[in-house]
Amino acid sequence: MLIVLNNKCHFKKGEFLDYQKELSKIDCKSKMILCPSFLYLTDITLGNISLGSQDVSIYKEGAYTGDVAAVQLKSCHVSYTLVGHCERRKYHQETPDILQKKIRNLLDNDIIPILCIGEEKLSREKNQQLLSLSNDLDQVLSPFSKEEIARLVIAYEPIWAIGTGDTPTIEELDEVFSWLKEKYSQTKTIYGGSVTLENITSLKTVSKIDGFLLGSLSLEPRTLQKVVKILEN
Ligand code: PGA
Repeated sequence: MLIVLNNKCHFKKGEFLDYQKELSKIDCKSKMILCPSFLYLTDITLGNISLGSQDVSIYKEGAYTGDVAAVQLKSCHVSYTLVGHCERRKYHQETPDILQKKIRNLLDNDIIPILCIGEEKLSREKNQQLLSLSNDLDQVLSPFSKEEIARLVIAYEPIWAIGTGDTPTIEELDEVFSWLKEKYSQTKTIYGGSVTLENITSLKTVSKIDGFLLGSLSLEPRTLQKVVKILEN
């Protein structure tokens, strides 16, 4: 089971240090991956928690002011990176060719890309979610070999579920994850979008989900501990 914590743009330095202390007390046998702000990547002493970043440059390294390259992330022990989160696609106009460059740089540096995909509310209402996901995946992953795709993690995060309190039904999740596993049988697939202490018991019944990507929940170590306990029982 993978548990990915996406802190997004939260925590000032002192808050992060307190958070980190709380987080390190969590009893977790699963693979937990913390994706904090870039600023704190080198401040982390988290024992068995793996390090992730929320983004990476499309460039290899050099004169690219403000960018953080995969080779730099690797040198700070980052082993996972989120790619194509819907907030990056929306606020930074990230297109499939940008995502391809990021994935290539990450794979070249032995960092596992966590590719985020998810349909808009309208696609879901028209029952076109698989078509929308398929178009996106085919576009983004077209330059990569089967072996390379097997090294990725795919995070299914419906856009309408992120930060809204809405989640797909168990049947809807079964449909998407069965389809994903048929398409990419070797790739780990996780779910993200409004995961809470209240819905985790039901979400964990979807057998093809290999883990969860947590936004708001990642910010609350005490609640997170309860969620981890449920996932591991
Ligand atoms: P959320 O965010 O858990 O707050 O809905 C998930 C995400 O954006 O990855």
